[in-house]
Amino acid sequence: MAAATVNSLSVGSTLGSVVSPASQSKAFACNVNGIRSFSGLKAASSVRFETNSSFFGKESSAALRAAVVSKVQNNNPRSLNYVQPQASYKVAVLGAGGGIGQPLALLVKMSPLVSDLHLYDIANVKGVAADLSHCNTPSRVLDFTGASELANCLKGVDVVVIPAGVPRKPGMTRDDLFNINASIVKNLVEAIADNCPDAFIHIISNPVNSTVPIAAEVLKQKGVYDPKKLFGVTTLDVVRANTFVAEKKNLRLIDVDVPVIGGHAGITILPLLSKTKPSVTFTDEEVEKLTVRIQNAGTEVVEAKAGAGSATLSMAYAAARFVESSLRALDGDTDVYECSFVQSNLTELPFFASRIKIGKNGVEALIPSDLQGLTEYEQKGLEALKEELEASIQKGVDFVQKQPVAA
Ligand SMILES: NC(=O)c1ccc[n+]([C@@H]2O[C@H](COP(=O)([O-])OP(=O)(O)OC[C@H]3O[C@@H](n4cnc5c(N)ncnc54)[C@H](O)[C@@H]3O)[C@@H](O)[C@H]2O)c1
Repeated sequence: MAAATVNSLSVGSTLGSVVSPASQSKAFACNVNGIRSFSGLKAASSVRFETNSSFFGKESSAALRAAVVSKVQNNNPRSLNYVQPQASYKVAVLGAGGGIGQPLALLVKMSPLVSDLHLYDIANVKGVAADLSHCNTPSRVLDFTGASELANCLKGVDVVVIPAGVPRKPGMTRDDLFNINASIVKNLVEAIADNCPDAFIHIISNPVNSTVPIAAEVLKQKGVYDPKKLFGVTTLDVVRANTFVAEKKNLRLIDVDVPVIGGHAGITILPLLSKTKPSVTFTDEEVEKLTVRIQNAGTEVVEAKAGAGSATLSMAYAAARFVESSLRALDGDTDVYECSFVQSNLTELPFFASRIKIGKNGVEALIPSDLQGLTEYEQKGLEALKEELEASIQKGVDFVQKQPVAA
């Protein structure tokens, strides 16, 4: 993770202020008591902010550094050596015991913005929580197992991430997961509507093209739908596109940004290679090969794992990046952009993945400029994906309309 360090700041925080005695009952004593400083991954109570690099990308690193620097300047203008990161957000991971859930929980545990990390699963997550709670980062880790503990898991949470459900096996499409994952997402979102209707909701469970509309319908039926706060996590498509383009064009990974629009399955994943930053040129053959590889990258992992699941580590990384972006937005950063599958009017489809601006209240703006001036190849890809994406969206809507939510 560490790269050449140009600028380094020590980061410390006192945990006493973020844990109320009343709420300590489920906390791990070793996690809440006795830890007085957050030293990130470093043993020597310092976290280094690289000028141009962080494991979440250039923007996140710079923004996080700027936020921390402004805080220390406000707190103590004479010293830049002791920083108080504001660990004040509660994050819940539903499906936290799984292949994505566990590494995602670890990455979220590393965030200086998180005060409480709630882990929920139908399988026992006590061990995962106990394990994570020993990391000397600010957040308190609590475990919640089984439906009877779901409401408590969700109360007061700012961001809920849902990687619960079954992953693909070789030969399966994401849509093949619909029958199982649709009900899982529906039930979890019902509980979110009842217990933390104002939270940002990040849906990872596939098929995202249908599970996001399912979540929207549930929230509508519960009377708490805020389209600005419901996000389908398509960050992995961007992460993959950035990686593959950087490899192909010999670019510094941290510099590459490729918007990916449409949806999150097969041909509905449309990387806009012509909008790559920094500006690069591709031959037609390169465009075709890269596009197909990005669209099928999930299947590449499913086949390599040969029955042991789908992408988990890269997905956890991508989801953690999206959580970090959301937390920065909640924390007042006004310069947060990500691609996500959200309610949209950029095309005739009711949901569409595009670059969005995220603010304190969720989606602040959809960014239309990426869709302007498309190449012929991209324009064809955009037209070709609409039929499949529309059908997947409708399938999700119909699912909830046929099985109305519990009052
Ligand atoms: N959006 C993306 O880019 C992307 C990428 C990869 C995988 N996925 C999807 O993420 C999901 C999870 O994948 P995984 O590899 O972690 O699977 P996994 O089987 O390893 O873990 C899933 C976890 O969900 C839990 N679970 C099942 N039902 C639940 C319920 N009702 N409430 C709470 N927890 C429940 C299981 O106990 C398990 O711990 C799959 O649907 C997969 O297709 C999405």
